[in-house]
Amino acid sequence: MKGVVLAGGTGSRLRPLTHIINKHLLPVGELPMIQYAIDKLSQAGIQDVLVITGKQSASLYVDYLGSGDLFGVNLTYKIQEKAGGIAQALALAEDFVGEGEKFVVILGDNLFLDPLQPMIETFYQQDEGAMVILKEVEDPRRYGVATLKHNQIERIIEKPEHPASPFAVTGIYLYDSSVFEIIKSQSPSARGEMEITDVNNVYAATGALAHMFLTGWWIDAGTHESLFQATLLVRKGYS
Ligand code: G1P
Repeated sequence: MKGVVLAGGTGSRLRPLTHIINKHLLPVGELPMIQYAIDKLSQAGIQDVLVITGKQSASLYVDYLGSGDLFGVNLTYKIQEKAGGIAQALALAEDFVGEGEKFVVILGDNLFLDPLQPMIETFYQQDEGAMVILKEVEDPRRYGVATLKHNQIERIIEKPEHPASPFAVTGIYLYDSSVFEIIKSQSPSARGEMEITDVNNVYAATGALAHMFLTGWWIDAGTHESLFQATLLVRKGYS
């Protein structure tokens, strides 16, 4: 299985830090944020990894990660010219993934304790479709929120004001290559972005969206407060 790390976006919730450097290069503990995703993939035995970044700080990613050798992966880079949502960035992975292949995606600002191996193994057994990884949280309003019926995802609502469940959709996704046709059939949301939640809901509508739960800690380090919390969490140990 191949891996994709999405590390673009504008990082607006981390201004003014992100005026000078891309969010995923900001320090979390002793490491730049993106290294946690790369390490997770490497530890799960995934070697071929695509890093998708914006133009901001693009050369710094290469300075730090290089070919990936030091991290046990073989890296390919792609540039997202203009931030247009997670699904738009993901579309850039089509050639890298190839027809009929399965792959795992990590949003570069998502840090978590669980190993990826069990998710990858379970997804290999799944005939087709996609899998999202959920985490029960106290305040899910910042996230995509999944409603479950008979242990199956019915629908995901992006950043609902009144969440119908405590189950946040984390930034760990597993897809087969059908995702690229689905992305092409979508249009931008009200906030002008190609939403990964819309893509996932296409799978959910046909019962093809599997899920698993994280058991350890998870954090989306995309705000000042959560970046601070992420540093505290990784200092306690992250693998
Ligand atoms: C994105 C997704 C959201 C998901 C979150 C996880 O939100 O749109 O569904 O729950 O990542 O980190 P963003 O943080 O880009 O607004």
